[in-house]
Amino acid sequence: MTAAPGDAPPPVETFPNARSGVGPVVVSAEELRERVLALGAVITADYEGRAPLLVGVLKGAYMFMSDLARAIRLPVEVDFMAVSSYGSATRTSGIVRIVKDLDADLTGRHVLVVEDIVDSGLTLSYLQRYLMARGPASLAVCALLVKEGQQRAPLDLRYVGFRIPAEFVVGYGLDADERLRNLDAIHVLADPSSSAS
Ligand code: IMP
Ligand code: MG
Repeated sequence: MTAAPGDAPPPVETFPNARSGVGPVVVSAEELRERVLALGAVITADYEGRAPLLVGVLKGAYMFMSDLARAIRLPVEVDFMAVSSYGSATRTSGIVRIVKDLDADLTGRHVLVVEDIVDSGLTLSYLQRYLMARGPASLAVCALLVKEGQQRAPLDLRYVGFRIPAEFVVGYGLDADERLRNLDAIHVLADPSSSAS
């Protein structure tokens, strides 16, 4: 069958192996939608009269960032950084490398870091120190997911979407070795070894 321009794309499930390795749902698409709207409303109230700069941490936060930005009723600006802390393993290395730096000048800005998931917290504590050194007026973090009991040092997370058990999860931007970011819910990765293709 050939697709005509304008046809809706076929569901991802129809692609061979599109969901291989995908386990049970941890946070459903509906729960994500509701929580992101609620976070947007709280952020809108907290930053009233200001124009926060949302700093998304690529790649995992791209989908959350896109939905969150639309849920904030303020003149936000967006910028992105890319950091690498994992390589292709599913456990943290503790080594954070800046792959793409920010374009924006942070001096005097109200910066809100938008993160996909906090596991050990090493990535975020590194980023917080790095961004604070650039003289923002304020710096806060909005993390969609926090893995319970994994943080090695206390972190100041002002906004949290969901606290989840310490399992490796995929979907809604989060990957296993670059796969499964396009799932619309957060799932457990059924078999972490299956991500090594
Ligand atoms: P941390 O430095 O251990 O807190 O790890 C944070 C980064 O590792 C996140 O921004 C993610 O990119 C990645 N990460 C941690 N846990 C998961 C997971 O369960 N699924 C996908 N990526 C994860
Ligand atoms: Mg990742």
